[in-house]
Amino acid sequence: MKQNNITTKTVTVPLSDNRCYDIHIGTGVLKTAGMHAKTLTPLEYIIAVVDENACKHRHFDTVKQSLQSVGITPRIYRVKSGEGSKSFATYTDIMERIIADGIERKTALIAMGGGVVGDLGGFIASSLLRGIALIQIPTTLLSQVDSSVGGKTGINASAGKNLVGAFYQPSVVLIDTHTLHTLPVRHMASGYAEIVKYGCITNKKFFDWLYKNGDKVACGDPHALMYAIRTSCQCKATIVAEDEYENGVRALLNLGHTFAHALENTTQYTDVLLHGEAVSIGIIMAYKTAIHMGLSRNSDLQQVVACLRLGRVKTSLGQVDFSFDADVLTRAMYKDKKLSRGKIRFVIPRGIGDAVVSDAVDMDFIHMLWHREIIDARTDNTAKMGNAT
Ligand code: GLY
Repeated sequence: MKQNNITTKTVTVPLSDNRCYDIHIGTGVLKTAGMHAKTLTPLEYIIAVVDENACKHRHFDTVKQSLQSVGITPRIYRVKSGEGSKSFATYTDIMERIIADGIERKTALIAMGGGVVGDLGGFIASSLLRGIALIQIPTTLLSQVDSSVGGKTGINASAGKNLVGAFYQPSVVLIDTHTLHTLPVRHMASGYAEIVKYGCITNKKFFDWLYKNGDKVACGDPHALMYAIRTSCQCKATIVAEDEYENGVRALLNLGHTFAHALENTTQYTDVLLHGEAVSIGIIMAYKTAIHMGLSRNSDLQQVVACLRLGRVKTSLGQVDFSFDADVLTRAMYKDKKLSRGKIRFVIPRGIGDAVVSDAVDMDFIHMLWHREIIDARTDNTAKMGNAT
């Protein structure tokens, strides 16, 4: 489709009760923000919850100009980058300011930035006047292929991540691959891990393509990126269409996440470990668990590790500057919100392109696995130091 001379691809997320929304993907999509906003609000202002990086790199300027060209002025609420902003304090502060500035039911909200702003802004939109129209404009690879699609919104509580939130679907998602030009390499690699996840859980053909082209995706090759983002969004759209509220198949999107959340919880959600890096290590742990259960083969694991490495994302604890402890990591897994009757629900890959949810995983094995990973990391690092001297 051509919009204002911009070539875009559109993926539709079909939902129950005749609801649906579009994800527009391409270069220059930010310039269509005004046109989309105009269809959602008759008012001459819009609320824009924006990550400070999207402002710093001038991506928001493009959105602002597009809005102004259709007579809409954004009221901007800047959000500090980082997981710390997904807090009650930031949520309350922004809600109070928006309400004090005045809103009505037909007000729309733009959430622009990475996963943090998408989740926070989405939750604000879901709860303002019991729900106002939401436009997601994800600017990181991770948020473009995962968090901006599917309607999971929320903030963190002291007891854990994403414990307060709502399923609240956006009216439209605008993905401009141009925003990735200013994304640090490490964050590109982090998003790449979530892309590999789709191949592992549902799409062997996509995995095989990534196995050949993953480096191009992580390096920002325009054609490879476009294909990877579109295919990821299509995979997610299909899963969300089948199970919007995560009563079944949607849980597969959490491949590697039970391990990842334990790692992130232990490293206190700091830059020591980015979410996608934790997911990458978590996916590998999930494959090791699957091999133990007889559901995957060692050759699957080798291929997945190689595919992740193509994108230069971390694949082992030895690459993380933190002293982990197997007891602490195993305990942290019980803080996952996806516990069912006190049992941890793991996503277990069945080879490549298929996975199941299981709450029958032997936790003694998981403890032993963490222990082994920690020992391997120490051994690798000692060897590296030895080689350096
Ligand atoms: N990020 C997982 C999901 O949206 O269900």
